[in-house]
Amino acid sequence: MFEFTYSANPARVIFGSGTLGRLPEIVEEMGLQRVVVLSTPQQKDDAERLQAVIGKRCAGIFPDAQMHTPVHVTEKAVDMVLALQADGLVAVGGGSTTGLGKAIALRTDLVQIVAPTTYAGSEMTPILGETRDGNKMTQTNAKVLPEVVIYDVDLTMSLPVKLSGTSGINAIAHAIEALYSRDANPVISLLAKEAVSEFSKALPAISANPGDRTARSGALYGAWLCGTCLGAVGMALHHKLCHTLGGMFDLPHAETHTVILPHALAYNAPAVPEAMRALREALDTNDPPRALYDLAGKVGAPRSLKELGMPESGIAQAVERAIANPYWNPRELEPDLILALIENAFAGRLPEYQHTEHHG
Ligand SMILES: [Fe+2]
Repeated sequence: MFEFTYSANPARVIFGSGTLGRLPEIVEEMGLQRVVVLSTPQQKDDAERLQAVIGKRCAGIFPDAQMHTPVHVTEKAVDMVLALQADGLVAVGGGSTTGLGKAIALRTDLVQIVAPTTYAGSEMTPILGETRDGNKMTQTNAKVLPEVVIYDVDLTMSLPVKLSGTSGINAIAHAIEALYSRDANPVISLLAKEAVSEFSKALPAISANPGDRTARSGALYGAWLCGTCLGAVGMALHHKLCHTLGGMFDLPHAETHTVILPHALAYNAPAVPEAMRALREALDTNDPPRALYDLAGKVGAPRSLKELGMPESGIAQAVERAIANPYWNPRELEPDLILALIENAFAGRLPEYQHTEHHG
């Protein structure tokens, strides 16, 4: 019997190859006269190209987006868009640039057009993570949800193979946790299953040939679906572990998610039979955690926390922190088994189904 709540986030999504060429027409349709283009310093060229494409409806560029969306950068950008009397934002880039656009929108209510260049998926969510003096603050607010998302496969063709792999598996984690989320619903589960299936085919193909357009298109389509999953339902153990480990040891984001995912799924597996059924179909395997571990191997991604620079001496404290704050998960967190999970992930061993020991 079905019983669920489903809320859709409003956004216009334009997907294809060369779709960014429609930007001037979209800016005009939205009635915007003075948009500001956002990027990181590394992608300043892209921002300048867009400025030229938009022409007189572009009021300027702000090419200083930074990782983790520091508030001091946002405040600088807000001063600039106010001074320019901007009426809209165009963000071209990955999570850092999308994050900056959302942070500006939170403070100014400006409309956002986002053109993603990675598979992070943040463009589809009302979630904003910011940092002030190194402290991370996350909030969910409908104000930060972008109005228009332009997925242009051409923008992703040069995404390096390794980054494609880890960015893709980081995205898959959103689909997987959506399947067993506390607020899971059948619509989002359909998207999640489709996303896992697309990504699991696309990522190895991209590894073999980074110029494979069909694979690039499949991966970007998967990224959209995964972002939609993240924007719709809550996450669980996998995210808790990654945030704990990432925060404690300053580990790289997408790589940490790539390492942990097979292990977190194996841990939850006994408690989530329906999600496992969907994943067996999507991945065409009897052993989804193993398939995810193998997928990371195929794309040349790291598979151990050790190689990400986590100190072995930190394992015990990480377990303590991970289980300290109550956090919803389909399976209760058993300290001994979480310890085994993190030890396996640290060493890069195969994911293990962790069974509860019954005593007496
Ligand atoms: Fe995530």
